[in-house]
Amino acid sequence: MNIIHVSSYEELSRKAADIIAAQVILKPDCILGLATGSTPIGTYQNLIKKYQQGDLDFSKVTTFNLDEYLGLTPDHPQSYRYFMNDNLFYHVNVHPECTHVPDGCAADPKAYGLAYDQAILEQGGIDLQLLGIGNNGHIAFNEPADEFVKETHTVELKQSTIEANKRFFESIEQVPTKAITMGMGSIMKAKKVLLIADGPAKKEAIEKAFYGPICPQVPASILQLHPDLTVICHLD
Ligand code: F6R
Repeated sequence: MNIIHVSSYEELSRKAADIIAAQVILKPDCILGLATGSTPIGTYQNLIKKYQQGDLDFSKVTTFNLDEYLGLTPDHPQSYRYFMNDNLFYHVNVHPECTHVPDGCAADPKAYGLAYDQAILEQGGIDLQLLGIGNNGHIAFNEPADEFVKETHTVELKQSTIEANKRFFESIEQVPTKAITMGMGSIMKAKKVLLIADGPAKKEAIEKAFYGPICPQVPASILQLHPDLTVICHLD
């Protein structure tokens, strides 16, 4: 585990983008696991800049996102598909059909989740998984629980997550209470994991996740067992 402390959000974003860029340069047909939320926005902006400067080519890249709100259609401005299109995909030369975001409107979410995991496996697994972390220690939407769940599955969001995400909606009532999320299986099978955390609200989660016991009540703590984990933190 490599924990890098940086002194600004800008530095965090540049370093994270450099690591992702290195992955794409070393393996142009790599599989990237991607995250949403406010933390990766700067990382995506740096990746777009590198693409515009001619330093990065996404034409052979495939992406799989971590999660999606249940019930939000891809054209809903708060859906994670919309976020990814708006913050990355529409600005680089990744092929739209090579980008995957879980379908929040799947008729049979359980079967859909198994098919999502299978699709990742068939592509050869994730080369580099980008993660944020929730204030409560969640990764993707794997919330604190009594056990780690392996497969892509549906979850009830914790009140703390709904509170944290209400800033993206007009009112808290509009925040979906359920989501579909990649489980720990595909995340832990990723060849490399890069977790980014920004701001003092993440301090406790980082301490518990990487300096405390491994337990499902702190979902990110399972990453201590990952053989190639980099954490970039700006916690001031
Ligand atoms: C988003 C995701 C979540 C976020 C986490 C942190 O795809 O999987 O786990 O990474 O909630 O969100 P921000 O970056 O908004 O603090």
